[in-house]
Amino acid sequence: MTVQDFISKPYPKTLETGRFTWSSPSNIALVKYWGKKEHQIPENSSLSFTLNQCKTITSLSFFKKETDEDFSFEIYLDGDKKEDFKPKIETFFKRIEVYLPFLKTYHFKIETSNTFPHSSGIASSASGMSALALCLMSIERELLEDVSEEFFNKKASFLARLGSGSACRSIEGPIVVWGAHDIIKGSSDLYGEKYPYAVHENFDNYQDTILLVDKGEKQVSSTVGHNLMHGHPFANERFKQAAQHMSRLQITLETGDLDAFIKIVESEALSLHAMMMTSMPYFILMKPNTLEIISKIWHYRKATNSKVCFTLDAGANVHVLYPENEKESVLQFINNELVAYCQNGHYISDQIGFGAQLI
Ligand code: DP6
Repeated sequence: MTVQDFISKPYPKTLETGRFTWSSPSNIALVKYWGKKEHQIPENSSLSFTLNQCKTITSLSFFKKETDEDFSFEIYLDGDKKEDFKPKIETFFKRIEVYLPFLKTYHFKIETSNTFPHSSGIASSASGMSALALCLMSIERELLEDVSEEFFNKKASFLARLGSGSACRSIEGPIVVWGAHDIIKGSSDLYGEKYPYAVHENFDNYQDTILLVDKGEKQVSSTVGHNLMHGHPFANERFKQAAQHMSRLQITLETGDLDAFIKIVESEALSLHAMMMTSMPYFILMKPNTLEIISKIWHYRKATNSKVCFTLDAGANVHVLYPENEKESVLQFINNELVAYCQNGHYISDQIGFGAQLI
């Protein structure tokens, strides 16, 4: 599909008022998106596990206004009005207006909440932007004659991408690819697609325990981080590496080779942080406790032959990934040896999930 396919034709129906609620999950990238071109087009394809517990629930209430000159909306987080969220939503609305021409004809009330604590250092942009995109698509579905589920999901992902790149991978599950890649059929720079190939049962209910090492605000916004890949001395090699990792990951997802899986996933996490450390300006988002945890995981894996591994976001928290059959032993290991490195001993137990839901 092309960008043109997402530009709506005049709507055959009208709608005065209404309310939709969606719950949309966060996702954790195994192959990382880091570096983008204009219009939120990624420099490389990425692949993520959709999460199950870490979600944003957003209700969008709306009514027709008298005039349609400006965007009109109010936004609440956990019942509190959030003026500081408005510029981000305004930017989002401006970017998607051409694809949703009804935006200026309504007044919107956006009420949102997250299942994970606000100050957990877990980014809510993927779950938040995808939930809002889905609510807006629910309005468009009412205005159009008939919208297939496939088109609905693709356009929701397309819109979510314009809010925050990784948000386009939060519509479906359990595994989503975003960014055109030769060997992944149907993959596109414009939206996330459900991973189209066979996945070994080793990955069923794959576990992700998120160790909250640093619950503070992000030191560097992802937009600034992505921009630092322009003119980065290692950028081209990094984009090539990501493409190779995608190809290798396809084989490991099929064969269930967890040793190969671990190598790709941990290399991706460290490459992401290596890019941050070698950009100008440079920065280190890992904390001493992040490194302690990584070292403990490596030690535990060597001692027990476990298939546990880690990945990182653009921050200090550690996602501990492991197969379901190791759930008991790895949780014991986390409680015995890793909790000490988490802020106030906090962690979140999650696992691979199946995507957003209309409530
Ligand atoms: C490190 O999707 O937050 O989590 O498109 O600027 O909103 P914007 O960036 P964002 O970047 C996420 C980067 C990452 C890796 C990933 O999720 O693939």
